[in-house]
Amino acid sequence: ATHKILLLPGDGIGPEVAREVEKVLGWLSGRGIASFETETDLVGGAAIDAHGVPLTDAALDRARAADAVLFGAVGGPKWANVPYAIRPEAGLLRLRKDLGLFANLRPAICYPALAEASALKRELVEGLDIVIVRELTGGVYFGEPKEIVTLEDGSKRAVDTQIYTSGEIERIAGVAFDLARKRRNKVSSAEKHNVMKTGVLWKEVVTRVHAEQFSDVTLEHVLADNCAMQLVRNPKQFDVLVTDNLFGDILSDVAAMLTGSLGMLPSASLGAVENGTRRALYEPVHGSAPDIAGQNLANPIAMIGSLAMALRYSFGLGEAADLVDGAITRTLAAGVRTRDIAGPGANAVGTSEMGDAIVRELQAL
Ligand code: NAI
Ligand code: MG
Repeated sequence: ATHKILLLPGDGIGPEVAREVEKVLGWLSGRGIASFETETDLVGGAAIDAHGVPLTDAALDRARAADAVLFGAVGGPKWANVPYAIRPEAGLLRLRKDLGLFANLRPAICYPALAEASALKRELVEGLDIVIVRELTGGVYFGEPKEIVTLEDGSKRAVDTQIYTSGEIERIAGVAFDLARKRRNKVSSAEKHNVMKTGVLWKEVVTRVHAEQFSDVTLEHVLADNCAMQLVRNPKQFDVLVTDNLFGDILSDVAAMLTGSLGMLPSASLGAVENGTRRALYEPVHGSAPDIAGQNLANPIAMIGSLAMALRYSFGLGEAADLVDGAITRTLAAGVRTRDIAGPGANAVGTSEMGDAIVRELQAL
């Protein structure tokens, strides 16, 4: 089968790291491992400059038609004064909304060669490979009422509302169990059923989805506060960690600190299954890094790692994903470093040299 990719490089270092992803795609097709049909379009500031909007309808149609979207980064000082409704970030928000991307996947991978950069001791994180699945479109960030009310005595009361429906919990649980089957077959579900009704329903629905459809996967329930502690105490006990929007926001930042540089972190956003494929957008966690843009300084590993996630989770190419991840691991083990992950005073290579080094590791296979 041919896998259709829409590549949206965006602004700043986005196009620089996207070029390195194209090298890896070229290797995969050249080896006959898979065939890709890659289209490229503008997003963010680049689209504002060309079309006056951060994402055209035509680009959105191409995103809908693709099996996966690979997104670089958007934004930068050049567009600081454009109207709010058409700011660069609005392009990404439109994609998320239109593709119905309700599940945010943030892996925390710790390459052995970079274990020193972790906030934790080497033995706790070396070889770490977990994914946090965060519900992204529900919960306390969106629930109504959401307000600050002034009371009769002049004091104020603020209200946020956490709401989850069984349907919302079912679909995020489905994503997590699906993912676990492509990994080490274990899901940990974090909530606080001891003090929250949404936690009670969360636990009940996850338990039912597991029993009905995924009883081959190991499921454990963990209280979210204990989960934060366990992530720092012994993170390797987890495989897939599924949780709500608020807890996921916090737990994924905790997990990010286990792994080192921003230039190393990929992510995925998944939506509903339509015509047999799950809508998906893959992107590095970092932004457009205007401070280093255009200088061949950016680390392309977060972007290449995002491609590896697309191979594994959208294209059913787990073995190809292993090849790419393995090439990254060996490149780092050989001491190749971009500036962000080189120690002070240590030698560093540029963006394109890092991409070339990873492709060389693939070619050596
Ligand atoms: P940023 O992630 O772009 O940069 C933060 C720091 O990390 C900078 O010092 C940068 O040089 C460094 N950095 C980031 N990625 C790197 C890489 N691959 N290799 C080496 N160093 C890297 O975040 P910042 O500075 O807050 O935002 C810059 C612009 O990016 C803003 O316009 C912001 O709105 C936008 N942004 C876009 C995102 C997206 O497209 N999803 C996400 C976050 C920010
Ligand atoms: Mg990004």
